[in-house]
Amino acid sequence: MFKKRVAPTGSPRKRPYDFFQQPAGPVALCPFALCPFALCADILPTQFAAPLKVSLPASLPAQWLATKSEHGAIMNYPQRFAGQKIVVTGGAGFVGSNVVRGLLAENARVVVLDDFYTGDDDNLPVGSPNLDVVRGSVTDFDVVRQVVEGAGLVFHLAARNIIVSTRNPREDYEVNIGGTLNVLLAARELNVPRVVYSSSTSVYGNPRYLPINEDDATNMLSPYAVSKFAGENYCKAFYESYGLSSAVVRYSNVYGTAQRPDNPYCGVVSKFFESAMNGESPRIHGDGEQTRDFTYIDDVVEATLLAGISPKADGQVYNVGTGREVTVNQLARAIIEITGAKVDPAYVDRRDIDNIRRRVVNIEKIRRELRWIPTFTVEQGLRRTYAWLVETVQKKAPRVGEGA
Ligand SMILES: NC(=O)c1ccc[n+]([C@@H]2O[C@H](COP(=O)([O-])OP(=O)(O)OC[C@H]3O[C@@H](n4cnc5c(N)ncnc54)[C@H](O)[C@@H]3O)[C@@H](O)[C@H]2O)c1
Repeated sequence: MFKKRVAPTGSPRKRPYDFFQQPAGPVALCPFALCPFALCADILPTQFAAPLKVSLPASLPAQWLATKSEHGAIMNYPQRFAGQKIVVTGGAGFVGSNVVRGLLAENARVVVLDDFYTGDDDNLPVGSPNLDVVRGSVTDFDVVRQVVEGAGLVFHLAARNIIVSTRNPREDYEVNIGGTLNVLLAARELNVPRVVYSSSTSVYGNPRYLPINEDDATNMLSPYAVSKFAGENYCKAFYESYGLSSAVVRYSNVYGTAQRPDNPYCGVVSKFFESAMNGESPRIHGDGEQTRDFTYIDDVVEATLLAGISPKADGQVYNVGTGREVTVNQLARAIIEITGAKVDPAYVDRRDIDNIRRRVVNIEKIRRELRWIPTFTVEQGLRRTYAWLVETVQKKAPRVGEGA
């Protein structure tokens, strides 16, 4: 069932997210405590997928055994990607490096293609025997072709971000559109079974209704949105014209581990943490009542991996979010509280990229088809992000007697 949708500028307004609520969507989808529910719908006989109290069938293959995370999510399917060569473009970046870690944890052989524009070696377990890192650009077809050869899956995340793209639309065009075309051309030529394309909820612009469904109108308000949507459309065209399997995941404001505040293009969560941890005021552009659907990285990785393996994802587009709307003011207050900083937010002018007022996505489709749900509330995700930042900052800080 779809939730009741509201017009963003009408009344009644949708209530912004309460930080201490559980994430949206029903939980405990799978009857098996140890079953990878992503596979139930597609592989298990229907009686096993029904929400009944049943014990683990003796016939369940050992490789489907999984562990439960502290939040109840089913994690770690050791055999989903084991032994396969899997390419991750943009694998040294924030989301890409987390996807790489997820794949390595499942014993895949991972090849990263990254030009290190915003990527960082520190994000990757360099030296891991199952990881190869190729420094190159997706704009170079020959390199893409070499990297993609023999791959069982390509996760295409390499992209110029919204800030670079707004400053330099030509660069955005060459990397985000041209690079995606190269990946798809190589994948088609070399018979790669599937490409997963990481897109963005920016393609919706200022939506007419909330929460936003995948088939709602798109509305390009930035060159970045244009290029990300062009990539989606190329995926669709290659699927329809050449039968190349693809799945598109539209991320909504991802935050968490490996989103480095020293990257000038990192997201608002990292910037607010950096300020608060330095005892400075988080700088809010505008009045802070703009809203977003902030999604924790581990949930995003799981959605992305599922899009790579689920038969149902073939040719599909999925929102990846929480279904919860959070104002930037709420976000800033939560981060100030978590860090214990004695500061208040500072309000500064809006930037040219701040032209989307409200955003929250409907995640019913991915819940239904891929059996994915977000498992972290914003508060849990922020606390984990803080713990990682504290550890990272401490690691980087020179010890007594070291440094200048
Ligand atoms: N982080 C978010 O909130 C978010 C939201 C929506 C969509 N996305 C999408 O997710 C993907 C990853 O985003 P991210 O947040 O990890 O950004 P990021 O900047 O951390 O990662 C992008 C990676 O791509 C690499 N890259 C850039 N140009 C390249 C090129 N020409 N050739 C090879 N590699 C190149 C960068 O060096 C970097 O490692 C992108 O496609 C982005 O559009 C991210």
